[in-house]
This record gives sequence, C-alpha cells and structure tokens, in this order.
Amino acid sequence: MTNQSSAVKFYSGEQIPLELHKVRIVQKLFLRPIEERKVAVEEAGFNTFLLNTKDIFLDMLTDSGTNAMSDNQVSSMLQADDAYAGSQSFYRMEEAAREVFGKHYVLPVHQGRAAENIVSQVFIKKGEVIPMNYHFTTTKEHMELNGGKVLEIYKDDALDIKSTKPFKGNIDIDKLKAVFEKYGKDKVAFVRMEASTNLIGGQPFSMQNMRDVKAICDQNDTMMVLDASLIGENAYFIKQREEEFKNAEIKDILLEMCGYADLVYFSSRKVSSTRGGGILTNSKDLYLKMRDLLVLYEGFLTYGGMSVREIEAMAVGLKETCDDTVISQSPSFIKYAVDNLDKAGVPVITPAGALGCHIDAMGFLPHVPQQEYPAGALASALYIISGIRGMERGTISSVRDENGDDVLADVELLRLAFPRRVFTLSQTMFVVDRVKWLFDNRELVGGLQWIEEPPLLRFFMGRLEAIGDWPEKLMAKFKEDFGDSL
Ligand code: F0G
Repeated sequence: MTNQSSAVKFYSGEQIPLELHKVRIVQKLFLRPIEERKVAVEEAGFNTFLLNTKDIFLDMLTDSGTNAMSDNQVSSMLQADDAYAGSQSFYRMEEAAREVFGKHYVLPVHQGRAAENIVSQVFIKKGEVIPMNYHFTTTKEHMELNGGKVLEIYKDDALDIKSTKPFKGNIDIDKLKAVFEKYGKDKVAFVRMEASTNLIGGQPFSMQNMRDVKAICDQNDTMMVLDASLIGENAYFIKQREEEFKNAEIKDILLEMCGYADLVYFSSRKVSSTRGGGILTNSKDLYLKMRDLLVLYEGFLTYGGMSVREIEAMAVGLKETCDDTVISQSPSFIKYAVDNLDKAGVPVITPAGALGCHIDAMGFLPHVPQQEYPAGALASALYIISGIRGMERGTISSVRDENGDDVLADVELLRLAFPRRVFTLSQTMFVVDRVKWLFDNRELVGGLQWIEEPPLLRFFMGRLEAIGDWPEKLMAKFKEDFGDSL
C-alpha cells in the first residue's frame, strides 16, 4: 500500500513534503550568535567534524547514527537479552534480516566499515581490482590496505551536476566488460555496487542495471557484493523512477535487489536507524570464510561488537525499511531543498537523491581554486552564517598520491544530510534561506590551507585555517544584513 508523503497533494498545488509521523520526544537546540560560531569553527580547524554539537543548530553532517528511531524501536530495547553467546536479541535480528534481505547467514558487526574490513581481508588479494559504481571513503581505504585497486566505472554523465538522469549510480556495462577483458576474471576480486551511491550525491542505480551487472558477474564466475547501507532509499527511487516497479511493494524490490548479490553488507547506522552493521549471504562457503575473522575483530557471532539493545532496535528498524512512510521521508525533504535551491540558481546536484542535498562547491565558489578546498571552505562559511553543520565531500576527503600530491576530487560537494524524520519543514526552509543568502554573498568566501594533516582519513581529524580574513568579512556582511538576528 502506497503511503508516501509525495502521494499527498496540497489544495494550493504546492509540492510540500509532509511529515508522516508525530514528534513525541524532542531535543533542545542552540543557535549561538555568529561571533561564537566563528570562534567555534576556528577552534575546530575549519573542519566541521571537530565541532561540538553544543555549538551546532542543525546537524546535517550525516545521517549515520542520527536518524530518528521509532516508538517501536525504542520500546524493543527494553526486551534486550544480555548474553555473551546465544542472545535472543540476536536471533530476533537474524530473523528480521533474513526476512528483509532474503539471506540466510547473518554476521553482525559493530558498524559498516567493520564489514568492509572483513570482506576486504577475506576476498581481496594483492594486485586484484574491484570494479564498482563509486567508492566510499572507508571502503576504498580497506580495499587498498589489502592490496586491492578500486576501479570506478560509472557512466560518463554520472558526475554531471545538473541532470535529469534518474539512475546516475548505474555501473557502465561496457566499462565492466572492458575490465574483465583487460584484467581477466582471476584478477577481479568481486564487483561492488553501492546503493544510493553516497559520494556522487546519493544517486541510485536501477534494477535493470543490477540485472545486467549480475549477468556479467555470472559469465565470469565473479561475486557481486552489494553495499546496502542506503538500500531503502535506492528501492524507493526504483519504485518512483523505474516504470516496471511503480506498483511494486518495497519489500519485494529489496528482495529482488539482494537476490542478485552473493554478499550483502550494510551500516545499520543508516539502513535501520540504529548503530551497528551486518554481512549477509546465502552461501555457507562464503559465510565460513568470514566467520573466524568476525570473532577475532568484532566479538562473538551473536553480538558482533553491538550492544544487545541496539540489536533489538535494529531488528525492528530493518523491518521498517520496507515501510514507504519511513524511507520516503528523507528523499522528499531533500527534494524540497534541492528544488528550491535549484530554482534560486544555486548549483545543487540534480535530480535530488538520497542522504542529503549536495551543493556543488566549484560552481558556488568559482573563484576559490580546487587546491584551496572550496567544499571545505563552503562548509565552514555556511556554519559561520547559520549554525548549520554540513560535510565536505571533495578533495579534503580524498588522499594524497604516492608523491604526496593532492588528488583533486572529481566533484567538490558540500553535503547537507537529512537524517530520517529529524528536521521539520520550517528548519528545512531555514536551510534554504541561509544557503541562498550565502550564494548572494559568495564572493566574500575564500579558501583554506592545512595546518595539521594526518596521512590516513585526513578529513576526520585534520585542521585547516582560512587563507586571508574572509571569515571576518563574511561575519561583518551578515551583521549588516541581519542586525541582531541569529
Ligand atoms: N558504505 C557506505 C555507502 C556508507 O555511506 C558508509 C558510511 C559506510 C559504508 C561505512 O559505514 O560509518 O557504519 O562504518 N557513511 C557515513 C556517511 C559515515 O556519513 O555517509 P559506517
């Protein structure tokens, strides 16, 4: 039964996302004066990861571990069964995962990257390649640490900022065939498909694309691995955008998607609105290959580093992934923000995807060279003028090459995440309003440079500083326009 917010029409004709839930527990937010926000971002080394949430108004860093839980999830936590081994909580979660993903063997892990660690250690040998639609930061690090090489074989137009292509997360089938021809099937560790491709703007792939990829994997006796962290939203887009599925049930779409994958792994921090993660397969052989590492790195097979309370909430959350009213919320609010910003001429990734609204920082700040990190600068500038925390997804989030040179990212994005059912429409309107103001004053924003740069995953812990005094100028203009307003 369809029950999405997009299925509700307003008399006014306006397209307004409708909250299909009521708010029963709330958390107070603080919107600090701009002077305090400027000091906070300077102390955080212009790295939004290093801000303290006490200084943040709308936390749009990520949806990871920040989606709102349902009443049923919270109440399920009370029946958690504390046991090192054989916890009933695990068996309830195992049953839910089997039902939703259609896979028999369920390996629990403490979060998504723990699954990537195990999958990479077990299935990647030095010198092997892993073709995929696009990498995710932690995925790539794990694969490279194990001697693998990531090959991104997205369609040529997948990185176009302005687009009407419904499935920019598709793998290019000709490029996949060329990979097998070039390297030979023995050198291809596996093919990875990431649902709602995170780093290119939350863009989904189509079911037809999965079928085509699967056929090539089968011809080459190669495994297909599905990163299902954002599978609910990808299934929602398949239903919205792929004619064949317009009347399909989400649960059937999920089962078909997982059916093509030999191995499915996910971050529960996203998919089930909890914390934790999992690896799933129907192959006993694959399961046995991973089992021992799981016990070594994560904990026993029936908790995998998670608290039993989270495991209970995960069981409920996985089932709720089949509910249109849950998985349509984030995409419909993102669409509202993207459409309104696009209308105002702000360069945003279109069509609107999953996870967040993605602003094209190179289009927004054409005067800031890519070597001065426009996406990082934009994230800091937006925080200063609004208290909104977004995440840099550009060159700061990539790594230097073997010569120590920056590898300029394909796209410089400021991601404003919309965790499920967390923000209201007026908060979303505030985001649109402040981004528009910043766009009109964009020439005031300058670049950033490193003052402390860790070699591994530098975007998490690194510190930068503003080049010049642009934060002061930006603050002065804000005060001129807004007076005493926060
Ligand atoms: N795969 C994808 C597609 C992800 O988006 C993430 C995390 C992971 C794997 C790793 O999972 O965080 O539970 O270890 N994405 C978060 C984000 C961090 O903000 O987009 P994890």
